[in-house]
Amino acid sequence: MANSRVRTLIWWRKWAKKDWAIAAVAFTVIVFGLTLISDSWRNEVDSKLNHPFDLNPAAEVVGLTLLRNAKDRGALCLDGSLPGYHFQKGFGSGSNNWLLHIEGGGWCNTLSSCSLRKMTALGSSKHMENQVRFSGILSRDPLQNPDFFNWNKVKIRYCDGASFAGHPESEIKKGSRLFFRGQLIWETLMDELLSIGLSSAKQALLSGCSAGGLATLIHCDDFRELLPRDATVKCLADAGFFLDEKDIIGNSSMGSFYNDVVKLQGVAKSLHKDCVARTEPSKCLFPEEIIKHIKTPLFIVNPAYDFWQIQHILVPAESDSYHYWKSCRLSISRCSPDQINILQGFRNSLLKSLYELQQRKEGGVFINSCFIHCQTWIAETWHSAKSPRINNKTIADSVGDWYFNREVVKQIDCPYPCNPTCYNMDFS
Ligand SMILES: *[C@@H]1O[C@H](CO)[C@@H](O)[C@H](O)[C@H]1NC(C)=O
Ligand SMILES: *[C@@H]1O[C@H](CO)[C@@H](O)[C@H](O)[C@H]1NC(C)=O
Repeated sequence: MANSRVRTLIWWRKWAKKDWAIAAVAFTVIVFGLTLISDSWRNEVDSKLNHPFDLNPAAEVVGLTLLRNAKDRGALCLDGSLPGYHFQKGFGSGSNNWLLHIEGGGWCNTLSSCSLRKMTALGSSKHMENQVRFSGILSRDPLQNPDFFNWNKVKIRYCDGASFAGHPESEIKKGSRLFFRGQLIWETLMDELLSIGLSSAKQALLSGCSAGGLATLIHCDDFRELLPRDATVKCLADAGFFLDEKDIIGNSSMGSFYNDVVKLQGVAKSLHKDCVARTEPSKCLFPEEIIKHIKTPLFIVNPAYDFWQIQHILVPAESDSYHYWKSCRLSISRCSPDQINILQGFRNSLLKSLYELQQRKEGGVFINSCFIHCQTWIAETWHSAKSPRINNKTIADSVGDWYFNREVVKQIDCPYPCNPTCYNMDFS
């Protein structure tokens, strides 16, 4: 314990201003999603949202494009505004290759949480920044992004609140002026990208983080179908492997949350029909069910102690009324041995859910024993001298090895606290 504490402190100190900026952006996006789940988080979060961090000046800025045919097709953000994406053209040997990255940011499960979201960038393009920085897997710098730097790259903005899987049928009767058009946004966006060159892709990778990682899983096979038969097409979900686990008091908090999202936004129609025929639709929104049906080669990057999952699936605030978990939820270095045991159980559940994928020849995994959430679009965690590694490979090395069939990649870290290369977040 003492060791990991020291490590956390060093980690904080080691971070230069630039790193803070990236973390702040990641943190803002990630934490924002949290507010939508649990109002008890709102106050904690608001003060952090206002921190005056600069953006990473080294990363390249890419402008926002609003979807051209969105209005005619009714593909609208929660508030009725046009969805958007950021596109950077590929060059050299990457000219015909495409990397798509779907933004994350939680989900909204009630009319009130969706109405709140409507007033933010996660529900309306009116609130989106006109430019974002491309780093990590989106970077153009070969040192930071050795295998994909020169590909065409698209960062897909998330503004529907249901991982691009909502359907309008459930809108009107609620009378709320909220648009549930996730699936339509996805289809309209794909048509636009196909028209600007994706249709002749030779190699493609659909990726996303958090709720965007879940969207990647939901749409992986239909993305594959849109591309030429002889193209190499694969999918990468980062921190999107949300577990269908009970919380520490035995309630299925995440299960009921997903149930609300599915019902509110009519998500069942976007889920696999065999799964929906067999069980409750909300079960079919969990990755462990989705991946059973995915035929396209798939890679899962997920920390074993994903802080988002610990704070919302294993120990949601409501499950900890006596605040026994208060410190541990904020920093893994402050968990008691009993709590660490419970976290190891959570890790075991993750590994069990991934067992079948690991047996697949084309399946890849990178499960590091870190307390973090998204790792692919942040330069420091994707590929740098200080990146988290397993067997001395960064996430970028591992994803590249898997994508280009250089090596079979089944990277499973030893349990916490054995990996000194982790970036462990500390919210305390
Ligand atoms: C746990 O679940 C029970 C039964 O569904 C419910 O009555 C109770 O309110 C839940 N507890 C919390 C803290 O959410
Ligand atoms: C780890 O990888 C780096 C390059 O990524 C290499 O320079 C170093 O020697 C490797 N270390 C070990 C112990 O293999």
